Amino acid sequence: MNQSTPLALLGGLSAEEFLRDYWQQKPLLVRNALPDFVSPLTPDELAGLALEEEVESRIILEHGVRPYELRRGPFVEEDFQDLPESHWTLLVQAVDQFVPEVAELLQEFRFLPTWRIDDVMVSYATHGGGVGPHYDNYDVFLLQGLGQRRWRVGQLCDSQAQLIKHPEMRILAEFAGSEDWVLNPGDMLYLPPRLAHFGTADSDDCMTYSVGFRAPSAAEVLTHFTDFLAQNLPDEERYTDAAAKPSSDPSEIDAAALDRLKALLDKHMQDKGALLTWFGQFMTEPRYPELIEGEELSEDQLFDALEDGAVLVRNPSARLAWAERDDGLVVFVSGLSRGMPTELRDFLKLVCTADCLHAENLVDWLEFEDARTLLVELLKQGSLEFADDE
Ligand code: SIN
Ligand code: CO
Repeated sequence: MNQSTPLALLGGLSAEEFLRDYWQQKPLLVRNALPDFVSPLTPDELAGLALEEEVESRIILEHGVRPYELRRGPFVEEDFQDLPESHWTLLVQAVDQFVPEVAELLQEFRFLPTWRIDDVMVSYATHGGGVGPHYDNYDVFLLQGLGQRRWRVGQLCDSQAQLIKHPEMRILAEFAGSEDWVLNPGDMLYLPPRLAHFGTADSDDCMTYSVGFRAPSAAEVLTHFTDFLAQNLPDEERYTDAAAKPSSDPSEIDAAALDRLKALLDKHMQDKGALLTWFGQFMTEPRYPELIEGEELSEDQLFDALEDGAVLVRNPSARLAWAERDDGLVVFVSGLSRGMPTELRDFLKLVCTADCLHAENLVDWLEFEDARTLLVELLKQGSLEFADDE
């Protein structure tokens, strides 16, 4: 895709313009971002998902035992019968991993790195329902699926923001809403991280699809990367001070000691290869690894299946990315990594982004051993699966 092509999803902005002027900076309201968008799920289907053991769901009641009472799923059918007429919201996380039609929505966001996308959360609200004024640390695209939702957008927040007393939810005590928009199905609002927002259902049966992004915090990056590095460091690699000058006072930690320590840290912190491996693995870690289940098969079985017309698709819970490194390419699959030769660049792009893989689009690649091995590995691991498998 050309970065300067106007995109209807972005109200005619190109990816380049959007990234330059809005992404991570300011909100963008797009009327008719997806014209004729029809919610791929009905309210009943969403409620059905919230009954499932493996699905993360919440109900928030504005006037419950406390303001914004939070109830956690999985729910049973009776839980829905006991709810008031209005002012409650059901939120279901990672619906893209359970409903292929919702996963398809993510195709629209290909102008952003796929490894930055976290999940699609779907909410259902009765009239007046909302989760309170709050901010998120992530970018989000809020696509209206059904009914109307009023969005108010307020101040930029940080962790110092005053919150109301609530044991589990982070609701802003003060909300200075400056903009106010009512979204209809197909309309979309982009919000950058940390911008206060408050959505309330302006109709009954209001459904909103939130495409959320992943961005590790500095604390996470440091903790996880240093853990990753430490796993491969031998015990004998230590702080050393050969040829140190005698210290002027034996109890002083002098500047030279600190410099030696810093050199030890820098040596590892500058290891870009290790950083890439860690980052790729980290960003492709699946939210629900238990939904990725592989099957044993041989290369021959794969060939036969492809010849018979089999189609391979990515498991919606799998996460894939690739990168270039000094010795060739590397592919990251659901938290794992594997080196690949440079000549397989287009093959990796295909595996990471094609809607499906079949004899026709794989034909040029199956002669490469590394390509065959990768396909078999991905099937065994479960990140790829046969399209007709349940
Ligand atoms: C919602 O869909 O009700 C809430 C989404 C959000 O504000 O993050
Ligand atoms: Co939010």
